[in-house]
Amino acid sequence: MSVIRFENVTKKYEDHTVLQDFDLEVRRGETMVLLGGSGSGKSTILKMVVGLVSPDSGAVFVDGQEITRLREEDLMPIRRKIGIVFQEGALFDSLTVRENVAYRILESDGYTMEEVDDWVFRLLGFVGMQDAIDKMPSELSGGMKRRVAIARALMGSPRIMLYDEPTAGLDPITSRITCELIMRLRDLEGVTGILVTNDLQAVRALSGEVSAKAPDGTVGFKPVPPETTLRNTRFVMLKDGRVHYEGGDPSREGGDEYVREFLA
Ligand SMILES: Nc1ncnc2c1ncn2[C@@H]1O[C@H](COP(=O)(O)OP(=O)(O)O)[C@@H](O)[C@H]1O
Ligand SMILES: [Mg+2]
Repeated sequence: MSVIRFENVTKKYEDHTVLQDFDLEVRRGETMVLLGGSGSGKSTILKMVVGLVSPDSGAVFVDGQEITRLREEDLMPIRRKIGIVFQEGALFDSLTVRENVAYRILESDGYTMEEVDDWVFRLLGFVGMQDAIDKMPSELSGGMKRRVAIARALMGSPRIMLYDEPTAGLDPITSRITCELIMRLRDLEGVTGILVTNDLQAVRALSGEVSAKAPDGTVGFKPVPPETTLRNTRFVMLKDGRVHYEGGDPSREGGDEYVREFLA
């Protein structure tokens, strides 16, 4: 079953058409890598999945439920299923790292402070940021902020993750750590995701490696043989408001001139 589906979606801003009769399907457990030039509508698509932007026509479905015409309060349970790492990775400047990560859960009821704290600590461990738990965002580097933003998005264990250019502007090491987090969620947790990126290094990692857990619990990454296509990773490239390419890693599997040039 598809977890995210766009059906015949059209979106215009004044007379500028961003999406035109656009269809997209993301299946359970799959990470879709969404490629496209600046202004091609990538961020708009992610915002539509959480109902922050509405299509002019057509429909968007999450877990089989049409969300296109839901009221704000009916969108809340949908948004709880989805973790989103925004393009800017924005944290709340006046909150500590701990409070930033806990934010999604404090809004809801039913957890003790200890449970929330424990959860925050584990998520910060996942992104390698436990030492920063009591720091303010202003004390962190760009890469550290991005990792905290990922931890925050993971609060509540969403089964769907949306990442908007999560490695843009990061140094190679932090970028690599971010890709590894995304691969772990994909391969070991079965999280369904959309990853918007123009980062060739990230594309190579996502399509060329899988994560695996050793008996001692440590996680490693191994290369996928060149002739193999990962079944849990599909690529979609946007152009002129539509899907221009769909399939395996276009830098391995051809694609046309436009796609190759884009990834060059
Ligand atoms: N709120 C808005 N008002 C007007 N135009 C917008 C708005 N949001 C996005 N756009 C325009 O829509 C197009 C797609 O934007 P976006 O989805 O952010 O592209 P991408 O993430 O692929 O760079 C761009 O031309 C952008 O300028
Ligand atoms: Mg964008």
